[in-house]
Amino acid sequence: MTEQAETASAPARRGRFITFEGGEGVGKSTQIAHLDRRLRERGVTTLSSREPGGSPFAEACRTLILDSAVAPQSALAQALLFSAARADHLDASIRPALEAGTWVLCDRFADSTRAYQGAAGGVDDEALALLDRLVVAETRPDLTILLDLDPKIGLMRADLRRTAATPGNFIRADTFESRKLDFHQRLRAGFLAIAKAEPARVGVFDAMQNELTLADAIWRFVEGRFALGAP
Ligand code: TYD
Repeated sequence: MTEQAETASAPARRGRFITFEGGEGVGKSTQIAHLDRRLRERGVTTLSSREPGGSPFAEACRTLILDSAVAPQSALAQALLFSAARADHLDASIRPALEAGTWVLCDRFADSTRAYQGAAGGVDDEALALLDRLVVAETRPDLTILLDLDPKIGLMRADLRRTAATPGNFIRADTFESRKLDFHQRLRAGFLAIAKAEPARVGVFDAMQNELTLADAIWRFVEGRFALGAP
């Protein structure tokens, strides 16, 4: 498509959109910080965001859905709430940033809905595909980094993270951390199935690796995909 044709149908997307996905405690935020720093060193303007969240409305949804005392139990209701938050995050933040040439790094996106509410939660694929068409539309990620980990280890790491964040205080596991192990096993299989179906978009990385080794592997994957200036 020529640039002119692109402008006529939809705003040109100049930045790249990279999402990070995986189960609980896989270390996404640490790896996003590494990639963000390396991209900036190459002169790329970046925006790191997260889901649920990334806009005032979506952050309010986050508070609702992660509080296990008020969160909806139905996976369909959860998918609708995550989608409402995502629609606002896209309009308020992601699309304007991409149009301005900023690269957006997002901690979770639509694959999380497919894995948590779909593969693990039981909402059927067609319903989720319809939501994707309505909400994500053309703003699909260019690249997705899937951090894969045995959920027994991931849940243990998530537990440690909670305790370390508030020593001496008990913070209960959120809506999804508190699910049984078989939920997290279905979740892992769901993410791996997405990667298998879309190998050009999704790269799978072993999250047991040492933090810096993993950051290097992710960097090689990103660098191999996009033309980046010299450091
Ligand atoms: P968060 O504290 O950000 O967890 P993590 O550090 O593991 O990313 O909480 C987000 C939770 O919401 C997480 O358990 C995954 C869940 N989630 C869904 O179930 N569906 C979704 O579409 C999204 C974006 C998140």
